[in-house]
Amino acid sequence: MSDQPHGEVVLRVNGADQVLAVDNRVTLLDALREHLRLTGTKKGCDHGQCGACTVLLDGERANSCLLFAVAVDGRTVTTVEGLADGDELHPLQRAFIAHDAFQCGYCTPGQLCSAIGMLAEAAAPQDLDDAEISERMSGNLCRCGAYLGIVAAVREVAGG
Ligand code: FES
Ligand code: FES
Repeated sequence: MSDQPHGEVVLRVNGADQVLAVDNRVTLLDALREHLRLTGTKKGCDHGQCGACTVLLDGERANSCLLFAVAVDGRTVTTVEGLADGDELHPLQRAFIAHDAFQCGYCTPGQLCSAIGMLAEAAAPQDLDDAEISERMSGNLCRCGAYLGIVAAVREVAGG
């Protein structure tokens, strides 16, 4: 790979600026996992199909496997590692525990980031019913089938 074009990328990740020298073909997902060792963001399909790699990009949910790191130069990324406030879990993380919203946990980082982005997108999150939450979260697959708990946790945080 050493003869491949490299770019310098500056990302603000979980509140800290990170300067990376990466091959132009490196995805944001691999930059996070392999270069920054933020392995909370998971690689499932690596193809935009499962949502395991979801992060927040300038507050909006995005599949990090579909983005080149160089294409998001200068932007703000929040991963699952950045959701808690010190020892204080994010309310959605607490709700996931309370509602048993995971089994193996592989999809959970993506579910959390996606739900936080989804609630920010919704004009009136408290009005979302279970069907609409499921529809809006349909890009995040859970092979363990923890959907009932996921929807209940998201609904609780939405205030519905
Ligand atoms: Fe990105 Fe599946 S790993 S959508
Ligand atoms: Fe196992 Fe969702 S908890 S894939």
